[in-house]
Amino acid sequence: MEKVIIFDTTLRDGEQSPGVALTTSDKLEIATQLVRLGVDVIEAGFPRTSPGDFDAVQTIARTVKGAQIAGLAHANPEAVDDCWNAVKAGEAPRIHVFLSSSDIHIMHQLVKDKETVLEMARSMVARAASYCSDVEFSPMDATRSDRAYVYWMLEQCIEAGARTINIPDTVGYTIPEEFAQFIVDIRNNVPNIDKARISVHCHNDLGLAVANSLAAVRAGARQIETCINGIGERAGNAALEEVAMAIKTRRDFFGVETKINTKELYRTSRLVSALTGMGVQPNKAIVGPNAFRHQSGIHQDGILKMRETYEIMDANDIGWPTGGAEIILGKVSGRHGFKARLEALGYDLTAEELSRAFLAFKELADKKAEIDDRDLEALVADKLRTTAEIYRLDFVQVTAGDHAAPTASVRVIAPDGSIHADAALGTGPVDAVYRAINRIIDVPNELTEFSVKSVTEGIDAQGEVTIRVESDGRSYVGRGADTDIIVASAKAYMNALNRLLSITRREDSDVRSNP
Ligand code: KIV
Ligand code: ZN
Repeated sequence: MEKVIIFDTTLRDGEQSPGVALTTSDKLEIATQLVRLGVDVIEAGFPRTSPGDFDAVQTIARTVKGAQIAGLAHANPEAVDDCWNAVKAGEAPRIHVFLSSSDIHIMHQLVKDKETVLEMARSMVARAASYCSDVEFSPMDATRSDRAYVYWMLEQCIEAGARTINIPDTVGYTIPEEFAQFIVDIRNNVPNIDKARISVHCHNDLGLAVANSLAAVRAGARQIETCINGIGERAGNAALEEVAMAIKTRRDFFGVETKINTKELYRTSRLVSALTGMGVQPNKAIVGPNAFRHQSGIHQDGILKMRETYEIMDANDIGWPTGGAEIILGKVSGRHGFKARLEALGYDLTAEELSRAFLAFKELADKKAEIDDRDLEALVADKLRTTAEIYRLDFVQVTAGDHAAPTASVRVIAPDGSIHADAALGTGPVDAVYRAINRIIDVPNELTEFSVKSVTEGIDAQGEVTIRVESDGRSYVGRGADTDIIVASAKAYMNALNRLLSITRREDSDVRSNP
């Protein structure tokens, strides 16, 4: 069966989601998981945009094996050169050059004539091809461009060495039938099209990103650009999990296949959600909490008799955990059972990580009688994603109530091991905790988002707090889980501050080392 390449841009277009800022270690963790998922090409970032992005792309290219690593570049020499320097250590590097092709962009944004723009595209693809045998070119805003101009630009770029030509629906404007026809027309009107693979990159402004991508596959596209959970600019990009499951479930219709190991979809979705702070809506296809829940009596009856009566996919194929229905751990569970369950969930921990996670598990088991897979995932996320930990929360205590002024005392351990304690009043217990932490870690910031949800059902459930803080025009996500939501809130704040500090410290050192 013919293959469709999955080019994932969660780390580039996905990171362009408003409010999302990933650290290099977040990106590395996501890239490693994308390899497990079986993604063919990982667009790791946009190296010219900042030293931090350059560093992240270069680190991924140097360390992540098993997928091609691509970087995005504007059509100018500095961007192409930076992109090459960032990706060249990869196993199979790719440079992705883009330039607008629509009149509206050319006239009002680039403010150039069409011949000049065409020459910029051609010469920058040629420059990229002089470094790298794998070059992709995208005529940005292709779906609102003059068709004849797009054909001409594509022909020139293929001639200059592009081996993938990507058709972006940059503003999510097109409709499936129209987009499919565009792909057919490209195949018929670009004379050297047989030298390149056709790719598509669809945005979701009209909720059609996945439908447009699939229509393009029917018309001959053989690469789809996606993001996990459909994140990305504005309404996002085509969701990888939806594209992959549509192609798998309706293989009879599409007659193509991808290399995606669909059993890793659920875990990848959770990881991206945790690290970006972007929750997954309950009714989201494939990975939303309700995607395999049946409420009506008739449906439940059918499912009990035969799953296929109301399910077109098996949740196991997507890697959904059992939901705790069968495997429950508790106070008396031993290290061996704990390790086995984590392995079944796909976590491959080092001995040191396992010891830390097991300690946290025992603490949780003292507070919560039954620990299911969702608890384990929250716990692993909490305990193991500590790479950015600079300050550590040692202790938090609050007094609150309708007749008390909310007061918090906190103790924090600094990077040099010194212990700092302080206390503060607040409008509520969370405010008091955050003010007390601010008295110790003095980083100006503003809390812009705060949400708490329970990890499982039940009064003893863990609360998972996700927050976003803004500092110097950038936003940082933090998350924390605990059976006490005030403690979870404190952990989330510490997590956000640690990310903020690790990013700003890294940038300071970038500035020092790149004068
Ligand atoms: O949406 C878009 O046009 C893009 C390009 C850079 C491919 O993201
Ligand atoms: Zn895009």
